[in-house]
Amino acid sequence: MISKKMEKALNEQVNAELYSAYLYLSMEAYFKSLNLNGFANWMRVQTQEEVSHAMKIYGFVDERGGRITLKTIEGPQTKWDSPLAVFKDIYKHEQKVTSLINDLVNLAIEEKDHATNTFLQWFVNEQVEEEASADQVVQQLKIMEKAPGGMFMLDRELAQRVFTPPAAEGE
Ligand code: FEO
Repeated sequence: MISKKMEKALNEQVNAELYSAYLYLSMEAYFKSLNLNGFANWMRVQTQEEVSHAMKIYGFVDERGGRITLKTIEGPQTKWDSPLAVFKDIYKHEQKVTSLINDLVNLAIEEKDHATNTFLQWFVNEQVEEEASADQVVQQLKIMEKAPGGMFMLDRELAQRVFTPPAAEGE
């Protein structure tokens, strides 16, 4: 059984993950409007990842005898000044998500909830990747400010990204 406090905090994280999905979907629409379909693909895969993060927590709360209660998902930003501005926002957003995950781990430790702490370690590791992949594109886009032709090469590269469900990663 999960404590009410932990249940509430995990419900909030489900909302945060679904908001992330919504944000990336909005970013996809922005890239589609620029005909940068590789960037749009990257965003679609990211959206799928975020939904899978939400569902992973959803399933865990249920398994522990908790109750999922869904709340309103905030509307995301819809316009950006440039692809670089988008990826800078992603990097900041993922740092914020990392701090939310860290707060959840701290709460699990406070509550002596070892099962939730262990469950959350997957997210701790995932956030290392989430921040690194956003930062990598920020750095590439910064280089491309001086060589705009590179944007199309990067678009082709980002078109290669495919969604791998977490369960298939040997979690
Ligand atoms: Fe679910 Fe991008 O963290």
